[in-house]
Amino acid sequence: MSIVAKRLGRIKPSPTLAVIAKAKELKAAGRDVIGLGGGEPDFDTPDFVKEGAYAAIRSGQTKYTAVDGTPELKDAIIAKFKRDNGLTYARDQITVGNGGKQVLYNALMASVNEGDEVIIPAPYWVSYPDMTILAGGTPVFVECPQQDGFKLRPEVLEKAITPRTRWLILNSPSNPTGAAYTRSEIKALTDVLLKHPQVSLISDDIYEKIIYDRFEFFTPAQVEPELYDRTLTVNGVSKVYAMTGWRIGYAGGPRELIRAMTDIQSHSTSNASSISQAAALAALNGDEAFLAERNAAFRQRRDMVVEMLNAAAGLSCPKPEGAFYVYPSCAGCIGKKTPDGKVLETDGDFVNYLLESVGVACVQGAAFGLSPCFRISYATSTEALREACTRIQKACAALRP
Ligand SMILES: Cc1ncc(COP(=O)(O)O)c(C=O)c1O
Repeated sequence: MSIVAKRLGRIKPSPTLAVIAKAKELKAAGRDVIGLGGGEPDFDTPDFVKEGAYAAIRSGQTKYTAVDGTPELKDAIIAKFKRDNGLTYARDQITVGNGGKQVLYNALMASVNEGDEVIIPAPYWVSYPDMTILAGGTPVFVECPQQDGFKLRPEVLEKAITPRTRWLILNSPSNPTGAAYTRSEIKALTDVLLKHPQVSLISDDIYEKIIYDRFEFFTPAQVEPELYDRTLTVNGVSKVYAMTGWRIGYAGGPRELIRAMTDIQSHSTSNASSISQAAALAALNGDEAFLAERNAAFRQRRDMVVEMLNAAAGLSCPKPEGAFYVYPSCAGCIGKKTPDGKVLETDGDFVNYLLESVGVACVQGAAFGLSPCFRISYATSTEALREACTRIQKACAALRP
């Protein structure tokens, strides 16, 4: 009998972390590898945020806090939701966890019964399906191909809903595609949900402020107030404030669900770090001016990467609205032969070929549920990106029919 529980047999380790580990291994062995696999900004946490943490340490904020977050941080989150999203929450509708990841995990564990269905538009963030499975639910994938801008269309959503559907998870701007929904695109989806009261909505807004070309961000509970009572709006400081290591995420939503999520957290991790909560408070209450410069840098990199990838034989790369990822199709490379005579059959073969032949680490589309594609994170220096794209062009040019 295995020491590991049966339910673990149904999930897989994070494939994005696996790529990062393989790239690190090759680097350690002396290979020249450019890693484009990671999902975190290369910028540092802003100084004013760090100051919040130093002050918390100095003033002795080093003990347990309320499981679901300090009152001060909750008030800052309430103010943020009001200011940015026009959403009104009371303190008992807010919960703070160790990253958006824990908040999402708590939400699914707190709400999904055995056999409940969770609709996950593909390509998706890698953790949604496995979290759903751990909670006893069944992920229902709906394909959102490149020609639909990688976005869920209302008629596709309608078809996927059954009496067992418990949640729809929307993520905009998206990891892995960078695609973001306009107000009217969200409205078309919330109109469908209005007809199905058994379905609640998780909106993962973690890339909310990493958007380009004057794109206007909206979140579903704001677009359709009638869905406010069955929407969990998830956000966090990891991406926007370059605070991935601090581990703070949060959500606003229905009281009963928030209470259940907090109960789960009370028996697993308890509160998120008191120091990190103080830093997140500084972030949310601070001046956002620093973001304009960072987003401008991200936008320049996005434009360069999209242009260079579209110039590579066999690749086609749409220009996304936000986040720091692009999700090119490598359909034109599938079925071709590498200089070593190996036929590329899948996007997994393709990213392996890139890593082994030119030392560029990306993640295969299969990891995100839509193939044949791959994800590039452009949250790295412009020089490294230019070099990586040049190498990708060379690798593509070396393929033979
Ligand atoms: C779509 C999406 N949601 C949630 C998270 C979780 O972020 P964190 O746990 O660092 O807040 C990530 C991080 O990669 C993400 O890409």
